[in-house]
Amino acid sequence: MDERWRADLERWAIPEEIAAGAPADPWGHSAARFAERADRALAAPEGPTLTRTAEALPPGGSVLDVGAGSGAASLPLVPAMGELIAVDVSGAMLAELTSRAAALGVPVRTVRGRWPDVADRTLVADVAVAAHVVYNVPDLAAFLTALTSHARRRVVLELTERHPMSWLNPLWRHFHGVTRPLRPTAHDVIAVAEGLGHRVRHESRPAPLSRFDRLEDLAESACRRLCLGRERADEVVSAVIELDMWPVPRDRWFTLWWEAPGPGPSRPGKTG
Ligand SMILES: C[S@@+](CC[C@H](N)C(=O)[O-])C[C@H]1O[C@@H](n2cnc3c(N)ncnc32)[C@H](O)[C@@H]1O
Repeated sequence: MDERWRADLERWAIPEEIAAGAPADPWGHSAARFAERADRALAAPEGPTLTRTAEALPPGGSVLDVGAGSGAASLPLVPAMGELIAVDVSGAMLAELTSRAAALGVPVRTVRGRWPDVADRTLVADVAVAAHVVYNVPDLAAFLTALTSHARRRVVLELTERHPMSWLNPLWRHFHGVTRPLRPTAHDVIAVAEGLGHRVRHESRPAPLSRFDRLEDLAESACRRLCLGRERADEVVSAVIELDMWPVPRDRWFTLWWEAPGPGPSRPGKTG
């Protein structure tokens, strides 16, 4: 199952000749956009991921947030959360998270690097969460195994049902004549986690927010994702209208969770 996940994800690679002409990283995440997402989550905390994380968290307990971004999945757990351990490959994301954690008065330890490569220098927490990360992860079984071994009580994942770039599929066909894959999906993540022996429970709902409020924002994002220069934004807007893609239908969001096998040894290790 894990091999199938990896193969399905590999098919999302952008053809080399197209990627070579990309003016900006087509896979990049904007720290500013994710900071906004964290602020919205703090202003109006809600949803099954928060509920499932909060119900497993003892008062003053610790949370490990992997692929934390600016903290949208974990910071709303304040005041119940006594400590946050945040892992991300991006220093810019961790900086946004750290300033928000300071304002909320919650101690945070950051670990900059790729999970599970940095697992050995990351502390175990009561609950581990990874929101909107797994479609970046080719070796899903190793990612989930390290996450589970770093949680005393529960692991919680949040993800879109389909690959988060799926909304662009008609535009890939239009601009590049490329047909994008339909897999993997959230159901494959469930299968991989079950294959590891976890009793996986899940809930799903329409995404709480629309992906874009303005067509211009969509065009800017689409140019980058499609490896087109920003000067082609008007062309993108015309194609979006012609292909009847506006407003972009909301994704379905899945929350998956399973119980961690129990109190493991508290791993000493460096953080920071
Ligand atoms: C789509 S963002 C989600 C951020 C946040 N969890 C949220 O829900 O708003 C994905 C984040 O995961 C990070 N990331 C991706 N793969 C990672 C990995 N294997 N280890 C650590 N961070 C990773 C990226 O740098 C990015 O900040």
